[in-house]
Amino acid sequence: MSQGEWQHRPVRPGDPVRPAPRHTGSLLVDNIGELVTNDTGGEGGPLGIRRDAAVLVEDGQVAWIGPARYAPAADRRIDAEGAAVLPGFVDSHAHLVFAGDRAAEFAARMAGEPYTGGGIRTTVGATRAASDDQLRDTVRRLRDEAMRQGTTTVEIKSGYGLTVADEARSLRIAAEFTEDTTFLGAHVVPAEYADRPDDYVGMVCGPMLAAAAPHARWIDVFCERGAFDVDHARAILACGQAVGLGVRVHANQLGPGPGVQLGVELGAASVDHCTHLTDADIDALASHRVGCMCPDGRHTTTVATLLPGAEFSTRSPYPDARRLLDAGVTVALATDCNPGSSYTSSMPFCIALAVREMRMTPAEAVWAATAGGAAALRRDDVGRLARGARADLMILDAPSHLHLAYRPGVPLIRQVLHNGVPQCRP
Ligand code: NIG
Ligand code: FE
Repeated sequence: MSQGEWQHRPVRPGDPVRPAPRHTGSLLVDNIGELVTNDTGGEGGPLGIRRDAAVLVEDGQVAWIGPARYAPAADRRIDAEGAAVLPGFVDSHAHLVFAGDRAAEFAARMAGEPYTGGGIRTTVGATRAASDDQLRDTVRRLRDEAMRQGTTTVEIKSGYGLTVADEARSLRIAAEFTEDTTFLGAHVVPAEYADRPDDYVGMVCGPMLAAAAPHARWIDVFCERGAFDVDHARAILACGQAVGLGVRVHANQLGPGPGVQLGVELGAASVDHCTHLTDADIDALASHRVGCMCPDGRHTTTVATLLPGAEFSTRSPYPDARRLLDAGVTVALATDCNPGSSYTSSMPFCIALAVREMRMTPAEAVWAATAGGAAALRRDDVGRLARGARADLMILDAPSHLHLAYRPGVPLIRQVLHNGVPQCRP
């Protein structure tokens, strides 16, 4: 460890293969008033906060972190002017490959209509009719929009194609933008299979999975009344696991159900939504947390990913984050960005909702939007700032992470570094 450097955990190799670092010379971010590291090995509370800090970036990674007065020389320098610096947000749940929007459906909901998920088929029709370039442009637009709001890692699901060819192309396009692609062929049963759902499940497990798997890291199922029941969901997720995909589940969004416990049973990285949970669901998530480490030390915890943008946009009750946290469950926050239930790419908005509406502390919400998202994607190279981690970070126009919830709706992200490369200022 060089002079003044704070302790760090070594980065463990993990899949999938990371892009080769770009050689861009060294860059020092200094004069940081509050640095959120999420490194809880030392002082600094749950966010591993350091004061008067500097971060040296080399080859896309954090090369050194320490007190600003010990900062090594670098080719270039960014003066944070006493502001707060955080790891880039990890948005572990987003549906960015789609065409069209459903603004009229939103307006109807605000006038009292309930959300049922039935509008998914509208987006499926528009998505099938779109060209590859139209879909690619939408993903790029939303990815860039998210990046301007501090998101440096985003998971992207398919699920609006629902034919072999449309699911495969959705994932191919998603893979141009992220390593964390998720096959969601089991989003809903498409209209042409409405009276033979067993045949659709057979197709998802057969030719659709075969075409999707080469472009996917994860498999997901919408396990909900009106979508896929627990037997179908278990069968589909097991087929995905058999070809090496990790499991995630859309669970307990619209009502209580078996999705959360199915996810825990299958060792899912994350169960998402968790809006309607019983004590047994919470017990399953909490008890699975204990003693569930692989021999190489990697976590196998099932994370509860909460998506408050969906509750906002569907005017539904928010999930009880406090109950999950008090039970010791690992919680992540994500946007669920999609044209139906949550058309926001803004992690700061989700943090503000989680604090105001779900009784999370600002520190818990910031952790859930960074390290929590990384845990939900089983990644240890993002969501934290330590030597060897990816140099993904944001400089706020504020002195503290507290301002993300304290100043809702205000564009507080001054600068974003992705893979060590400064992005255009918003
Ligand atoms: O996560 N719940 C299932 N899927 C999405 C909504 C998709 C839509 O309404 O288009 C969700 O909320
Ligand atoms: Fe979703």
